[in-house]
Amino acid sequence: MIAFVGLLLTTAALTAAQVSTPAATQIIRFQEAIGPFGGQLTTSSGMPVEQCQTYSLDKSIMANDFLMDNLFNFARERIPERTVHAPGMCGYGYFELTRDLSHITKADYLNGVGKKTPIAVRFSITLGSKGTPDLVLGARGFSIKYYTREGNFDMAMFNIPVSSFKDPLDAHGTRASRNNPATNLPDPDMAWDTITLHPEFLHAMSFLFAGYGQPAGIRHITGFSAHNYQLENKCGETHFAKMSFIPVAGIKNLDPAEASKLNAENPHYMATTMYNEIASGNPIEWTVNFQIFNMTDYKKLGAQIFDTTRTVDDKKYPYIPVGKLVLDRNPTNFFAQCEQLAFCPCRVVPGILGAPDKLYEARRMNYRDAQNYRLGGNHNNIPVNYPYMSVNPLNTYNRDGVPPVLDNGGDAPNYFPNSFSGPTAYDTQCSRLISIEEEKPYNMDLVQNLYANVFTEHEKELVVNNVVAQLKRVNVPRVVVKAVELFKIANEEVGRKIEEGLKK
Ligand SMILES: *[C@@H]1O[C@H](CO)[C@@H](O)[C@H](O)[C@H]1NC(C)=O
Repeated sequence: MIAFVGLLLTTAALTAAQVSTPAATQIIRFQEAIGPFGGQLTTSSGMPVEQCQTYSLDKSIMANDFLMDNLFNFARERIPERTVHAPGMCGYGYFELTRDLSHITKADYLNGVGKKTPIAVRFSITLGSKGTPDLVLGARGFSIKYYTREGNFDMAMFNIPVSSFKDPLDAHGTRASRNNPATNLPDPDMAWDTITLHPEFLHAMSFLFAGYGQPAGIRHITGFSAHNYQLENKCGETHFAKMSFIPVAGIKNLDPAEASKLNAENPHYMATTMYNEIASGNPIEWTVNFQIFNMTDYKKLGAQIFDTTRTVDDKKYPYIPVGKLVLDRNPTNFFAQCEQLAFCPCRVVPGILGAPDKLYEARRMNYRDAQNYRLGGNHNNIPVNYPYMSVNPLNTYNRDGVPPVLDNGGDAPNYFPNSFSGPTAYDTQCSRLISIEEEKPYNMDLVQNLYANVFTEHEKELVVNNVVAQLKRVNVPRVVVKAVELFKIANEEVGRKIEEGLKK
């Protein structure tokens, strides 16, 4: 028996030595830091657990509170995963301002060169459930929470410059790209039906098929605000800005063959490399750029500068570097610091009003709703969502409800307004988002430009190969015909190559 245990220990030691990456050795480092004794075990109510309670056979089960704790916790440890962006990975670090932006916004975190703001970032796979392999082809989420001195500012971005749609109703496209309701299997007929019914999806789709759907790792991933944020400076003047996050290590995408090889070796390739790089003292870094517009630009270009399916010519309106985003710390607990990390475009700070487009308006409500459902109405009280850098102590009229309630407002008045020194609002001129007239989506001009002038030959080849591989799985001929026609409108040559590829 003793020899058998010894053998097991040796095997474990060998395995650890063979894969001595930070991710593989986390638990060993924990022990090194804590020493041989992990402290007195307690129940959730703090009662020290006796050794006889750690063995439940031949005893009363109900009287064993340690066992009860375990059983009840097992049954309750899952919360709803996000409907979209369920698989995710997080990193922590800071945003550093390298160019003062006080001329366009009074947002504190964008005023004063050198100012550093702590951040949390979550990268996600837009479609798919938790456990989906990291490198499947598809859009990635890139969400940032800035813990600023004026409260938290959240950005929920994608890794491509545009969103598939601009009308919030078209979120139905997300369903079509996921599982068939009867079979619970991916259904290419549904996915391509929805693409061909929404030609404007082709802009975002083209980026994904051209390689951006399979980034080579978090160190090489891009981020784009898609929304054009309305900003306000101290004088009350309005500007707008789209934002891009360009990896310092360079943009790098994978070919489908490379991606499936890596996926097969390690389904959590991106999460593993990200964790190991950060833990080895190799921070991951992005240049943050603003594409800035003023009211004159808006009057000239119209509401299309707010169209989330479109980009604005960056030769005429260049992206200007304003800062850097650095991830240098891993979460110490995944559930507490990543799974509970809640983003909402509704969370803005003075000087950033949000964006005037309908998609933003819908997301403002929808993201809050999603986290109220997952984490409860008091989810901003969860440590990772708490505005801990705010110079103003949290002072709301929210009371009670699903925990955590923290001090629940203590003994302060719980109704507003009141004449008993409850918190009051500060006085300023009222700013509001401009109201815009949004047109029906049309972006084929930009899609055509993408294929004619932006994509490399290799990227076009990737589009052809990825689209052919997918369309070969579509059963309904009219959907395939329509898809090929769409690509021909985008680019005659690319469309023809797809057509030829399908015949092979
Ligand atoms: C607006 O910005 C444009 C450049 O995009 C500049 O030429 C113009 O002078 C600006 N207008 C105002 C009123 O600041």
